[in-house]
Amino acid sequence: MTVAWVFSSVFVSGADRASETPPVWAYGTDPSAAAIHGKSEPAAKDRLLHLPGTDLAFTAAQIQDHFHPADWYPGDHPTMPDIVAHGRPPQVWACALCHYPNGRGKPENAAVAGLPVSYFVEQMHEFRDGQRKSADARKGNTALMSAFAKAMTDGEIQEAAEYFARIQWTPWIQVVETETVPKTRTSVGMYMPIPGGGTEPLGRRIIEVPVDPEGTETWRNPRSGFIAYVPLGSIQKGRKLVANGGSKTTPCALCHGADLAGLGPVAGIAGRSPSYLVRQLYDMQKGTRKGTWTELMKPVVRNLTEDDMLNIAAYTSSLRPESGNSSRRR
Ligand code: HEC
Ligand code: HEC
Repeated sequence: MTVAWVFSSVFVSGADRASETPPVWAYGTDPSAAAIHGKSEPAAKDRLLHLPGTDLAFTAAQIQDHFHPADWYPGDHPTMPDIVAHGRPPQVWACALCHYPNGRGKPENAAVAGLPVSYFVEQMHEFRDGQRKSADARKGNTALMSAFAKAMTDGEIQEAAEYFARIQWTPWIQVVETETVPKTRTSVGMYMPIPGGGTEPLGRRIIEVPVDPEGTETWRNPRSGFIAYVPLGSIQKGRKLVANGGSKTTPCALCHGADLAGLGPVAGIAGRSPSYLVRQLYDMQKGTRKGTWTELMKPVVRNLTEDDMLNIAAYTSSLRPESGNSSRRR
């Protein structure tokens, strides 16, 4: 399933746009960051792993099985349809492998819990029809999404959409403003702190890491969330852009709902992974994500710089629709 395409932008770079090179911090695609330094010892293939709060145990191989990934907490979610739990060999992997049985997903993929059914179905069609690609051709898991969507029947797409729509999205990303971050490596596009690796300046990036690195990487613990390190002051700057748009953009609440938790068929953007959100804003500006409904987002993203996208995502990901803003400074 190799999907390689050549993407050449038809846009000319201007002062009020993001640069032509996708921000690697959002895409996790820097090959040098994928080097195996500081990687924890892989668990022995046949050793059973345990997690708190469940009697179930799985081996590392079972946890990563593309067609039968571990379901640690079956009580946390409704009964999964076959396509979500097992996919359909050989082309379609289990959705639960990457998005987790509870749909919360990880920064390098997407939170799909609570998405409106019609929006979800539309996205699958866009992946299928080549309307939704990554601006960074090295991002292989976006290409995998297209391959899955191409192989799926309308019935399977509908079942998956209805399943994930039944689960309420509960944010689990803690947004922290900071100047320094742990040094990181990437694991298939996800940033992982290097144990004993020290710190480095964050600069104009957002770095999202698991709260429990081993629990997420080896165990795929679907109850263990993420920390997003964002630059000092970015949340406040983002809040302004989102609320009034200024001369740059349109207030987001108009279409995404007063608390940005979604409105009708429009997906929520509150409390979601900032790396994911920046990839979408960037992909839409560069035109690699260009579905039917993307038309409505075109004027929104047209004049945003990479830094504007960063600030917007820092703010929206810090929102907690029920309880207000729960971000903190350190
Ligand atoms: C190999 C990992 C992987 C598997 C397995 C997977 N996905 Fe995805 N999915 C992704 C990635 C990566 C993205 C985000 C792409 C990006 O950021 O460019 C995504 C995005 C999505 C989105 C878009 C969400 C949004 O908010 O627009 C939907 C819908 C989706 N996946 C549905 C599914 C379904 C249904 C299945 C099972 C048939 C599935 N995925 C299996 C990796 C995966
Ligand atoms: C005029 C209506 C409208 C406005 C205003 C708007 N959006 Fe959207 N937004 C949409 C629609 C419709 C989609 C779905 C696009 C698609 O299907 O490709 C969307 C999708 C998105 C997505 C992708 C969601 C996902 O799950 O992949 C992000 C991120 C986003 N918008 C951010 C914003 C931000 C930030 C603002 C304000 C600066 C904003 N939007 C303002 C209509 C709007």
